[in-house]
Amino acid sequence: MSSSASPFAATLDAVSGRVEPEHPLQERRVSDLEGLYADEAAWRSAVDSGNPLVYTVSAAPVPEEAGEVPFSITSIEPGDVGGELYMTKGHWHTAPEGEVYAGLSGEGGLLLFDGREHRWIELRPGAAGYIPPGWGHRTVNTGSEPFRFLAVYPGAAGHDYETVLRDGMGARVIRTNGGYEVRAREEQA
Ligand code: F6R
Ligand code: ZN
Repeated sequence: MSSSASPFAATLDAVSGRVEPEHPLQERRVSDLEGLYADEAAWRSAVDSGNPLVYTVSAAPVPEEAGEVPFSITSIEPGDVGGELYMTKGHWHTAPEGEVYAGLSGEGGLLLFDGREHRWIELRPGAAGYIPPGWGHRTVNTGSEPFRFLAVYPGAAGHDYETVLRDGMGARVIRTNGGYEVRAREEQA
């Protein structure tokens, strides 16, 4: 069986966060993260005062189908909502499929959750994080510049956002005086 895509070369721009050629750019604003931040009042006030951009996903034109290997650059802006750092929505793959993330620029990390425990992997430029099948995943900008990373995953992975919305990610990443702290669910007030 041959792929529906033709071979192609792409550029990964670690400065702009764009893949070229690219699918239409996906934009996620604070309003798109409804129900995910702990401080609902802070989330509402951010939506009402300009609803800032939180992240973009620039994806190569690869179909999300079995056998294909889609890849994309996610760029997360620096910022927080009530002290909780800007992050992606986070999801589980609906099929038992893994994924690889590789840091391109800025400072950030990968929060993983298997339903019981969480893990945290820093993703500096040059570092990769492996997401095994069966782990929910979310990324977080822990620095003061945009944080960009490459994601490569099986086209049959599928994306489930509802479970994260309902059960969370086992931890929250909070701004502190000196930097940030990954605070486990049981430590949260
Ligand atoms: C794909 C993947 C990433 C994310 C992207 C945005 O399986 O993990 O490409 O889709 O970082 O995050 P979400 O999808 O959680 O909004
Ligand atoms: Zn994924």
